[in-house]
Amino acid sequence: MSNPTKPTDIGPNRTGIGTSPLHSKEAIKSAEEGVPNPSFDTSAHHASAVSWARSVSPIGTMPPPASMKGAAKSMVQAIKGKHATAFIDLLGERLAFERTGVRLYEALLCRFDAADLGEGSPTRAQLEHIRNEELQHFDLLNKAIQKLGADPTTVTPSADVTGVAGMGLLGVLSDARATFTEGLKAILIAELADNDAWNSLAHIAKQLGQDDMAADFRQALEEEHEHLASVRAWLDNAVQAQIGFEPQAVAPAPEQPQPGV
Ligand SMILES: [Fe+2]
Ligand SMILES: [Fe+2]
Repeated sequence: MSNPTKPTDIGPNRTGIGTSPLHSKEAIKSAEEGVPNPSFDTSAHHASAVSWARSVSPIGTMPPPASMKGAAKSMVQAIKGKHATAFIDLLGERLAFERTGVRLYEALLCRFDAADLGEGSPTRAQLEHIRNEELQHFDLLNKAIQKLGADPTTVTPSADVTGVAGMGLLGVLSDARATFTEGLKAILIAELADNDAWNSLAHIAKQLGQDDMAADFRQALEEEHEHLASVRAWLDNAVQAQIGFEPQAVAPAPEQPQPGV
């Protein structure tokens, strides 16, 4: 049985200033005394931040190619004139994101199992199906990176950035107190970013003449479209139910995985 107290129930929330009129007056008075001439001019801070940004090293760099034999060599030759490392960086970013995606859905399954869900919610099998597709996407990228002679275990600069960006999502989803609905809100952010990134990756692979890779990425994008549509519908139903409305739409069931995929 899940926790009988819901986040939308009235509880001991004392974060608002209205909780204590006396202390709020003191807080306002102290703020006025501490900053007697408030200003929205952030130019000094801005100038300092820009100066730092121009002088520091990047978050990371790309390693030299791990292997430049056979297929990898010809592939890198094929995209000659363009920056192969920038493409590999993007692949590394997606790889990191898909790996995190598997973890996000694993955590969402915990939120799911701990919840008492009503109509318009997914089945466990639907969530497992998406988790499995995230894992397949990870594997697809793993192979694509190796085809280019790069090391898929490398944390590329963009992988590092996307890992940091995803920490908040993992924080929400792995919090034992988070509800399934709160987990869906975090997952929605991930799926929105994922859809745009796969679209961009498929487009770039096509422009680089990597037609097989582009076709694989396009397939992954189609699956990500389904993830996004499902998560949107489930979340919409969940928030409607919180307000007291009946579910408006039932989330579409994801297609069954293709044999051998
Ligand atoms: Fe994904
Ligand atoms: Fe996804």
